[in-house]
Amino acid sequence: MEKTKVAIIGLGTVGTGVAKLLLDHGDRTARHAGRIPWLEKIVVRDLSKTRDVEIPEGVLTDNLEDVIQDPEITVVAQLIGGIEPARSIMLQLLEAGKDIITANKALLAVYGPELFDKARQLKRCIAFEASVAGGIPIITNIGQCLTANQITSLRGILNGTCNFIITEMQNSGAAFSDVLKEAQRLGYAEADPTLDVNGADTAQKLSILSQLAFGVRGNWEDIPCKGINDLNIADIRYADRLGYRIKLLAIAKLVDNEVEMSVSPTLISKGTPLAEVQDVFNAIRVRGDTVGPVFYHGQGAGQMPTASAVVADIIDTVVGRSQITFNNLELWSERNRPRSMADAGQSINRYYLRMQVVDQPGVMAEITGILGNNGVSIASIIQHKSENKDSSATVPLVIMSHETMQSAIDKSVDQFKDSKSIESKAVVLKVI
Ligand code: NAP
Ligand code: HSE
Repeated sequence: MEKTKVAIIGLGTVGTGVAKLLLDHGDRTARHAGRIPWLEKIVVRDLSKTRDVEIPEGVLTDNLEDVIQDPEITVVAQLIGGIEPARSIMLQLLEAGKDIITANKALLAVYGPELFDKARQLKRCIAFEASVAGGIPIITNIGQCLTANQITSLRGILNGTCNFIITEMQNSGAAFSDVLKEAQRLGYAEADPTLDVNGADTAQKLSILSQLAFGVRGNWEDIPCKGINDLNIADIRYADRLGYRIKLLAIAKLVDNEVEMSVSPTLISKGTPLAEVQDVFNAIRVRGDTVGPVFYHGQGAGQMPTASAVVADIIDTVVGRSQITFNNLELWSERNRPRSMADAGQSINRYYLRMQVVDQPGVMAEITGILGNNGVSIASIIQHKSENKDSSATVPLVIMSHETMQSAIDKSVDQFKDSKSIESKAVVLKVI
């Protein structure tokens, strides 16, 4: 069988998984590719580091030029994270005539337009299935399988680390920081885990999916984004009592030819598929105008699920399928009829509010008055009586609203600040 020589740049969590699949399952990859995707080189920073995969002699190098200068290496999996040197390496690889596979969503969310233009100009391709939702083939599904549709909405749990943390906090009451450490040990978290927990990783993934589904151009940093860093176990417990689970949810939906986008911890009704997504699993519900709703579920982070997506892209590139898709998608190009992001303040949702209030007459009237004056209609209220006889004792107050405009909620929360009866800033979460 003929060979196509392949290289990997970066031998961390994902790179190691890809090397294992190419080295240990060559028969499988060759059968699907019709030729052997031959692992010729792996570029690392530190040759002396112990690796979790047995590498044949002569494959490991710390010199990128061993790949750049070898014209027989035509397919390269670029598996280092962050912006630099990942961006410069991608540009060098394209200039050297290589087709590229990447899992780096942080890079694509910012430099997608530059890298994709460069690839088109040089008649090369970039495949990026692993950049969103790990092992779930969501890029292929939106980019190829659902193309008879106009996608009208996307709702996704797109960060494995966050879902793992929320699940553990809910099920075992474990502390946030302990679970985050475990997610890092398991290889789920980014090199800088702040990007996971502050929602940035989810927003970067949402910006890639929204480019694919709606042609949204824009900065991922403009997506209204709230992470789980200050998610309180009390809210997980109240949500549970009210019949909901909290998930870090990415939403994009088409409204009057603009796209409303957000990332935030959200209450989702128990029993619905998104609410039941556990541990490191991700899920995406896509609605198309032809197909209706479609649901995807699988492991969103971790070595082998992510390697599964990267190796499928390697096979597609060796076969020549990625090049055809890449050219036809015209991602981040003018032909893709760019749409803009809608004003988040106009977004209509139900909301959960929790605040710590003084347990005295008139307090409830004051709070409901503020909400009422801003046009927020209340669906239900929970308030426990205080065990403390002290008149300054505070109690938690939980309010669920009917559908209302986000700007009305923002205005109310702003006015709560002037109230002497409300002890701390209100927690505000969307409800679906
Ligand atoms: P990682 O474990 O930190 O591995 C990154 C690797 O890149 C490290 O081995 C690092 O070398 C190497 N590296 C950094 N700079 C280099 C350079 N200049 N030349 C050669 N090698 C260099 O990261 P990862 O988890 O595998 O993630 C890789 C990419 O996949 C990231 O973009 C990440 O966002 C994405 N991703 C990760 C997952 C996941 O579950 N982990 C899932 C989907 C996508 P050292 O070993 O010397 O530090
Ligand atoms: N850190 C990411 C996550 C890796 O936890 O989802 C997968 O992109």
